[in-house]
Amino acid sequence: MDPRNCVLISLLGYIVTFTNLLYTTCSAVSAKTIFLEENAPTIEEVDFMKMYGYLPQVSLSESETYTGQSVADAVAKMQSFAGLPPTGYLDDETRKLFKRRRCGVKDIETKSEVHRRKRYILQQGWGKKAITYRVINGTGTLPKSRVETLMSTGLEVWAPHGGLSFRRVDQGKADIQVSFASKDHGDGFPFDGPGHVVAHAFPPPHGAMHFDDDELWGDGAADDDDDVTDFFAVAVHEIGHALGLSHSNVKASVMYPYYQVPVEKLHEDDIMGMQELYLKEDVHSPAASSEDRTESIESGRSSLAPRFTKAESEEDDENDVPDLCYTNYDTIQVIQGRIYVFEEEWVWVLSERKQIVEGYPKRFHDVFIGLPKYINVIRTIYEKQNGHIVVFSGRSYWEFSARFRLVKRGRITEYKIPQVPELTTVFISNYNNKTYLIEYERYWRFDEATRTMDRGYPKEMSAWRNVPYPVDAAIIWKEDTYFFRGPRFWRFDNVQIRAHQYYPLPTAQIWFPCRASPDMMQYTTNDEP
Ligand SMILES: *[C@@H]1O[C@H](CO)[C@@H](O)[C@H](O)[C@H]1NC(C)=O
Ligand SMILES: *[C@@H]1O[C@H](CO)[C@@H](O)[C@H](O)[C@H]1NC(C)=O
Ligand SMILES: [Zn+2]
Ligand SMILES: [Zn+2]
Repeated sequence: MDPRNCVLISLLGYIVTFTNLLYTTCSAVSAKTIFLEENAPTIEEVDFMKMYGYLPQVSLSESETYTGQSVADAVAKMQSFAGLPPTGYLDDETRKLFKRRRCGVKDIETKSEVHRRKRYILQQGWGKKAITYRVINGTGTLPKSRVETLMSTGLEVWAPHGGLSFRRVDQGKADIQVSFASKDHGDGFPFDGPGHVVAHAFPPPHGAMHFDDDELWGDGAADDDDDVTDFFAVAVHEIGHALGLSHSNVKASVMYPYYQVPVEKLHEDDIMGMQELYLKEDVHSPAASSEDRTESIESGRSSLAPRFTKAESEEDDENDVPDLCYTNYDTIQVIQGRIYVFEEEWVWVLSERKQIVEGYPKRFHDVFIGLPKYINVIRTIYEKQNGHIVVFSGRSYWEFSARFRLVKRGRITEYKIPQVPELTTVFISNYNNKTYLIEYERYWRFDEATRTMDRGYPKEMSAWRNVPYPVDAAIIWKEDTYFFRGPRFWRFDNVQIRAHQYYPLPTAQIWFPCRASPDMMQYTTNDEP
């Protein structure tokens, strides 16, 4: 018999009871459960574990009991989320967690385990880039004007990672409303006096941020033991919630639930959450309305078994398909608002919500019909402004209509560039609508309207500061330029004319439905030129 049925902790007093029946039917009781009998959590500790989602809420009418095992599991989960060894054992270090200052938002969404495929996800974003905020009031130690300044600084920490802009308003309803309140303040989540819960915030579309007015709020705090709670550190965290992020179990991240100072910058875990929420949502996909590609319409099913979804006709090919999550990519391009990923003879098509479109991967020869069979890899492809799709191979190109019908074949010299052996990347910049043709270390800029090469080209790839080369792909996505190489990608800042400082990041976990893995961290160190 399973030991989890052996020990019951009664909610009325939390006394562990062994009934005679259980004694006789349980052949073994684990050390863990015996420990809990001697060292059961207090009512407050059980409440804590319920409040933050580690223990399920039980309805009062049902048997008001948690098994020893479920409490031990909850303790282990809580330890693990906090970065402690998950022993399931309520040692002193663990008990300190119950007392620590922290955010009042749940760590684990108990009802939606399925959605927690990634640590840093997620509720939903605002679905827009321009967000308003309003500071309703301040607190004894921080006047409203100072709170406004600190909020503004805090919001700017997040803004670049979602391409967001924040505007303060002084009256009326703002998206994010900031106030100080104590105890019961009307939202069903009363504060608890000094200590423990110091603030909470609601995800979009609610967006409220509440700070516990019973804390001693400061403008900077020396360390965690200080009586003063640093407003800025807490505000940066709560802004994350107001933008849609959940708690992270990464201790160095801003979205870690326990109070930590100082907060200087976001961790890549926080950044990935933002990208997930704001750099990938709500892109209109023209392909979905295109008449003759109805086979590409997504189905909800595709996200469940994304990697090896295969067409009916490809029964035996499963093992040949590379794993999208663990590979380099020959190239990536945005075509008709969707992301096309090429690797070996395969192409995946992903919706703007990074779900693999049903039926993919397919062999690219089955998509680009008319491409010569000797072409066994697509390294360079781009979508022209007239909607045509051009595949380059060697010194030739093949041009397809928006309906994927071969229109013509030509030579790359028609782009007024020399007979280079091979282009690695071609893309149209949204900045100037020019076509960039990239070889290994050089690139040309072509004007499709006049069909002329711009003066002064080729130029060196080093002009794209902090972007490694040769690149495998470059795409425009939500008005930003991204470069891909191997398993990583860089976001290019057209204003600073350099790769954004937090890049590279791993391609698979950001762009494709791949889980975060320990391996991904090795991809995030910039050891490239
Ligand atoms: C601040 O405003 C909130 C929301 O209107 C209110 O509940 C709270 O009592 C106010 N706090 C103070 C300190 O005035
Ligand atoms: C680029 O072309 C698009 C579509 O023709 C147009 O809307 C946009 O204004 C152009 N951008 C620039 C910078 O010329
Ligand atoms: Zn929080
Ligand atoms: Zn509140």
